[in-house]
Amino acid sequence: MPVAITPIDPVSRPDFAARVNGIDLRQATLPDDIAAIEAGIARFGVLVFPGQDITDDQQLEFSRHFGPLEQATGDLTPPDKRRISMALNDISNLDKDGNVLGRDDKRRLFGLGNMLWHSDSSFKEAPARYSLLSARKLPGEGGNTEFADMRAAYDTLDEKTRREIEGMVAEHSQIHSRGQLGFTDFTEEERAQCVPVRQRLVRRHPASGRRSLFLSAHIGAIEGMPIPEARMLIRDLTEHATQREFVYVHVWQPHDLVMWDNRCTMHRARRYDSAQVRDMRRTTVSDEVSTLVQVA
Ligand code: OGA
Ligand code: MN
Repeated sequence: MPVAITPIDPVSRPDFAARVNGIDLRQATLPDDIAAIEAGIARFGVLVFPGQDITDDQQLEFSRHFGPLEQATGDLTPPDKRRISMALNDISNLDKDGNVLGRDDKRRLFGLGNMLWHSDSSFKEAPARYSLLSARKLPGEGGNTEFADMRAAYDTLDEKTRREIEGMVAEHSQIHSRGQLGFTDFTEEERAQCVPVRQRLVRRHPASGRRSLFLSAHIGAIEGMPIPEARMLIRDLTEHATQREFVYVHVWQPHDLVMWDNRCTMHRARRYDSAQVRDMRRTTVSDEVSTLVQVA
């Protein structure tokens, strides 16, 4: 049986967020299924695969069908402190021994940056293309993930704003996103790794041809613009882009896997009780080149 991809909310969001059935990610996937998933994510931006009780290796194998994977270098955890392989981002509140991180733990506080609207790895020269997040253990309540459609956000901008932002280049750094939460606990070495990276503010999706706003909490400046003016513009655009009508709220079920396209969406985690375990693992397909060398 081929995969079936159906919009989650066909009335209010017919082109954003769909559910994928008829595939078992523990089995080798067929080329036709991969092609269907690629077409599905180009149309819907977010795909939910329910009931996928997979291992890290199965997640890696499935993810590699979509391109080269990023190494998890964005979370400040050195290799000897990691709970899982460098090939997966550890989006959990657990330490190496499986204990819940303390309230003041640096890794936990750094990880709270995921609760700001962002696009994955926009602070890397080649940002993320797809992210695949697998829910292994969930808290009793809270911890939803919200997704915003950056194509709808672009389409609904007024003409004057569209002209104004055309060709703008933004600077992205984790120092900025964490700074918004008052997190400044970077070592000199970490700071050196966080030099701002330039990305286009408006981009075009190569498969759908649709334009979108490339926004992220990591943006701290726009080239050629005074900082306060740039940050105010980014705030305004982010507020516009994250209106509820453009947002799909994912309420996790155990073993859901959610795949999203970072080129045309933003996302954020929501709060949950930090004493409860939330174990999520993310594989990330790299976009391979900077937005600056892609066609606008
Ligand atoms: C991520 C992320 C949100 C969440 O994995 O990139 O931002 O809800 N996760 O954990
Ligand atoms: Mn993220």
